[in-house]
Amino acid sequence: MKTKSNKDLYIYLSKERIDTRVKEIALQLSNEFSNECPVIIGVLNGGFMFLSDLVRLFDFDCEIDFVKANSYVGKESSGKVKLHKDVSIDINNRRVILVEDIIDSGLTIEFLYKHILSFNPKDITIVTLLLKKNIHELNFDIDFIGFETGSDFVVGYGLDLNHKYRNLDSLYGLKEKN
Ligand code: IMP
Ligand code: MG
Repeated sequence: MKTKSNKDLYIYLSKERIDTRVKEIALQLSNEFSNECPVIIGVLNGGFMFLSDLVRLFDFDCEIDFVKANSYVGKESSGKVKLHKDVSIDINNRRVILVEDIIDSGLTIEFLYKHILSFNPKDITIVTLLLKKNIHELNFDIDFIGFETGSDFVVGYGLDLNHKYRNLDSLYGLKEKN
C-alpha cells in the first residue's frame, strides 16, 4: 500500500530508491551464484517483502525457506533472541543466503548466523536491507547491505511497529509525538 499523508510518518526511503538498490543487489548475487542452487533463508517477519522482491530478480535457481526470530518489543530490543520457527530444508553442505530486513545491535543476526552454522552449510552469505550504526563487533561479515542508516526506528516495506505498517511499499520514520 502507498501511504496517503499520515500524521505519524515521514518518508525515509522511497519505493523507487528501494527498487533500484534491490535490483543492484540481485545482480551482484546473480553474478556470484550463477549455476548454483543456494538455499535462501528469509528472516520472518520483517524480511518477507525484501526477500520476495529480491528472489524474483535472481537469474539462478534457488530453494527458499524461512526462520522466525524475535528480539523486539515495540521500539526496543529485549536483549534476548528467541527462535520461533526453524529451518526446514536440509542445508548440510549447501550454500546459504540469509536475508534480513534490518540489523541494529547485531544480536539477532549473530544468533541466527551461529544457529545456521550449526547445520554445517558450505557457506553463509548475509544480505540485509538496512544496517543501523549501533552494531557491535561481529566475527563474520555482513556481505550485502542495502542502506546504512542512523539509529532512527523505521517502518514499512516489511518492517513493523507492533505488527503495523508492514504493508507500506516505502520505508518511513516515525514522527516524534509531542
Ligand atoms: P538487533 O537484534 O538489535 O540487530 O535487531 C534486529 C531486529 O530488530 C530486526 O530483525 C527487526 O525485526 C528489529 N528492528 C530493529 N530495528 C528496527 C526498526 O527500526 N524498525 C523495525 N524493526 C526493527
Ligand atoms: Mg527481523
